[in-house]
Amino acid sequence: MSNKLYIETVGCQMNVLDSEMVVASLRQRGYQLTDDLREADAILFNTCSVRQHAEDKIYSALGRLRRLKKQHPEKVIGVLGCMAQKDQRLIFERAPYVDLVVGPGQLQSVPALIDEVRRRPGPRLQVGLGRRDGSVDEIKRSHETFDPLRDPEMRPTPFQAYLRIQIGCDKFCTYCIVPMVRGPEQGRPPEQIIAEARVLADQGCKEIVLLGQTVNSYCHRSGGRTTRLADLLYQLHEIDGIVRLKFVTNYPKDMTNDLLTAVRDLPKCSHYLHVPAQSGSNRVLKAMKRGYTVEDYREMMQRIRDILPDAAVSSDFIVGFSGETEDEFRETMTLVSECRFKNSFIFKYSERPGTKAEELLADDVPDEVKRRRNHELLEIQNLICEEENQTWIGRTVSVLVEGPSKASAGRATEEGGLQLCGRTSEDRIVVFDGDEEHVGQLMPVTIYDVTAHTLLGVAATRQLASLPLI
Ligand code: 5AD
Ligand code: SF4
Repeated sequence: MSNKLYIETVGCQMNVLDSEMVVASLRQRGYQLTDDLREADAILFNTCSVRQHAEDKIYSALGRLRRLKKQHPEKVIGVLGCMAQKDQRLIFERAPYVDLVVGPGQLQSVPALIDEVRRRPGPRLQVGLGRRDGSVDEIKRSHETFDPLRDPEMRPTPFQAYLRIQIGCDKFCTYCIVPMVRGPEQGRPPEQIIAEARVLADQGCKEIVLLGQTVNSYCHRSGGRTTRLADLLYQLHEIDGIVRLKFVTNYPKDMTNDLLTAVRDLPKCSHYLHVPAQSGSNRVLKAMKRGYTVEDYREMMQRIRDILPDAAVSSDFIVGFSGETEDEFRETMTLVSECRFKNSFIFKYSERPGTKAEELLADDVPDEVKRRRNHELLEIQNLICEEENQTWIGRTVSVLVEGPSKASAGRATEEGGLQLCGRTSEDRIVVFDGDEEHVGQLMPVTIYDVTAHTLLGVAATRQLASLPLI
């Protein structure tokens, strides 16, 4: 039997990791990846529900499969992840030719379900319990974490890997669908995390990015012992071969001094902190139920600056949340100007069915206003990026080299080298001329020019004569 797998992933790093796991488990059963829908035996979409736009993309991709499935009913089509958990049977209603709908907590069943459908066609639905559909333990069990095998070939690069330390979220920000689709917050046992990190190190992985929806709220209790993120970092730091540790995404209220000092004292920890503020207005933060004020956020930024003066901090913002006035938006602009984030991810508010905001608050900011605010905020953030990047000119940074830069498309430079791309410890993107053997290495690179989002450099070990003229 032919076993070809086509998989498309949208959404956050957690989804990228989930797809890695699904692919690894299918490869173990003899599946091979293909990027050609026509030759695929199984077609999977790992989906996101955080904004309407992400869902629309999947429904239109499914729409395009209607004809293919009619011609080839033996092909198995599966919708996995957050949208599967959120829409459930609705997916079969909108696309009746879909075979599988599998929530993020049921991904371990994907290989068996595909086998089943291939033997006995018909729709299969496997999802977790809703947040009101059972006891906390029952709900938790129905949102199982899926972290079985690591497949270096499925990772963005073989020397970088995501490692899940926490699933779900208990913060219930009013705009957010995550607590509904990914279930209650659960920290994975530290022993499992450490064991997985060792496997990754043995596979040649150098950088580990710890993942959690609110990663710095990580907590695991067993046998009277409580493990927090800072404790985990100390343990992971011991593992030979791992040279960099990052963690995303942070929740402002849980950014403790203990964690910041661990990052300061452990040389392998990146001085990079992604801590979404979401808004600069206290009224909006309250309506979002974020659990902090702008003053709290500023105080946290001050502590970060005191303990980690060179840290790069990045943030997320939602513009046009329910009732956001022009003055409230200006307060967000002020916060962005003040905090001088390394970068900000800015989103137009998208109302999500099943959230408190959808139930109780009007989505009353017109789309063109959201668009304009998005643009304005991005503009000021870009200006900051450019100014901050200027300060790097002439400095030598340590870059973990990821591979050929996108622009080079793997072609050699005029000097016979290769244009490479990597990141500094503070998560800044660096493009420089190097050699094939630099890929996967930590390299000193001297910066000679910058754009808003990239530092341009030259390998510091290369002869000065090859420095571009500026
Ligand atoms: N609309 C727009 N943006 C959202 N985010 C989460 N939910 C929504 C929503 N309903 C953003 C937040 C979060 C990021 C991952 O996505 O900024 O930090
Ligand atoms: Fe969503 Fe808030 Fe949880 Fe982040 S902290 S995943 S925004 S509910």
